[in-house]
Amino acid sequence: MHIDVLLGLQWGDEGKGKIVDYLADDYDLICRFQGGPNAGHTIVIDGTKHVLHTIPSGIFRDKVINVIGNGVVIDPIVFAREIQGLLDHGIDISRIKVARKAHLILPTHRFLDAASEASKGKDKIGSTLRGIGPTYMDKTGRNGLRVGDIESPDFRDRYNSLKHKHLALAKIYPEVAFDLEKEEEAFFTNLEVLKKLEFINCSYYVNEALQYGKKILAEGAQGSMLDIDYGTYPFVTSSNTLTAGVCVGLGVAPSTIGKVYGITKSYCTRVGGGPFPTELDNDLGEELRQIGAEFGATTGRPRRTGWIDLPQLKYTVMLNGVSHLCVTKMDCLNTFKQIELATEYEIKGEKTKQLAYDLSSDLKPHYTALKGWNQNINDIKDFDKMPIEVKDYIAFIEEYLGVPVTMLSTGPEREALIVR
Ligand code: GDP
Ligand code: IMO
Ligand code: MG
Repeated sequence: MHIDVLLGLQWGDEGKGKIVDYLADDYDLICRFQGGPNAGHTIVIDGTKHVLHTIPSGIFRDKVINVIGNGVVIDPIVFAREIQGLLDHGIDISRIKVARKAHLILPTHRFLDAASEASKGKDKIGSTLRGIGPTYMDKTGRNGLRVGDIESPDFRDRYNSLKHKHLALAKIYPEVAFDLEKEEEAFFTNLEVLKKLEFINCSYYVNEALQYGKKILAEGAQGSMLDIDYGTYPFVTSSNTLTAGVCVGLGVAPSTIGKVYGITKSYCTRVGGGPFPTELDNDLGEELRQIGAEFGATTGRPRRTGWIDLPQLKYTVMLNGVSHLCVTKMDCLNTFKQIELATEYEIKGEKTKQLAYDLSSDLKPHYTALKGWNQNINDIKDFDKMPIEVKDYIAFIEEYLGVPVTMLSTGPEREALIVR
């Protein structure tokens, strides 16, 4: 038995939540392995929109167990809000299991995130301000507090000691407004919600599930271009968002990895700072933003938009060992007479299909233009019945990337999906 993986191949928001929710019907366990409430995974069921931040996207499927793995960072305040949202919809939250080794986001981690961003001037990362960076820094710096520590009698003392370190550190940054007393009170109140759930030893739990023949899907957050090692550093998040991150994030061996579903939009978006070679900083980009409703699911910020970038996707297909591709938001290109796809970069007169060390350097993408389908494809359920231009567009991507496109998404709803 294997653990299948689903992750984003761009800069996040590829539509992972929707596809995980769809696939979850066929799995026993859905496991988040990295990231935290910086993620916003949208699922639309019967016209109702749900946005998940920490909780895996399998929660709306009956009987599916949803694991928050070791590699995840949890903010008890955001988490409690998510739990309440699920309870309001009558969802059974006993199907959520939390790794004891997952790290906790303290209020002062968010404070430091905001203060660090304030210090960066025009070079801001554009962090979601959820405290992600400072929490992972404490994890690797071996100062962090973990879910398992909540049960220990000296938890308050350790919390206070870390808080004081954070407050001392904050003095090197510009001042930012932060109501520590209020946030701290919310933290301890909401910790009680977290405590009601079952804490697990994630690696044993997941490996035993595998041995019992359970079907497992690992759900990525963010996207490969936001990976701490292989993304557009420093404009990245603080975790490994790649397939490799599944092994350390859940405590499973590399040999357990099965299918790898890579998700890409039919175009490309990015929210926050950092390079974006195919960005359309013009009317066309604005049109894409409006048609695609490209506003962040976590922060509401407008997302930057641009054409699909095939050298970029080839790189992330390689990094992740993608075996199955899914192209989302196909419907958002319905009105375009022509669709462009970046196929090469030119750097100082030289052409290359590889990503440069620094994507913000003097780099010019070259495009291939394909004829758009220029019609509504939203209700077509059979790939064979798709317009020839859709088939050509998909064939072009498959040939370039060398991986089959097995799913096409044509709307936000669960049912708007073609599986090949
Ligand atoms: P995630 O973070 O990868 O789960 O993606 P987000 O939820 O942040 O952003 C994807 C957005 O696109 C959400 O609003 C989805 O409801 C929506 N969406 C997903 N697939 C499609 C699609 O095929 N067509 C359209 N129009 N919207 C989609
Ligand atoms: P999902 O899972 C899109 C971006 C932020 C910022 C950078 C660092 O919904 O695809 P962080 O808060 O992690 O320190 O921010 O990463 N970012 C995302 N962009 N989708 C996400 O998650 C993101 N999570 C973080 O905008 O540029
Ligand atoms: Mg998102």
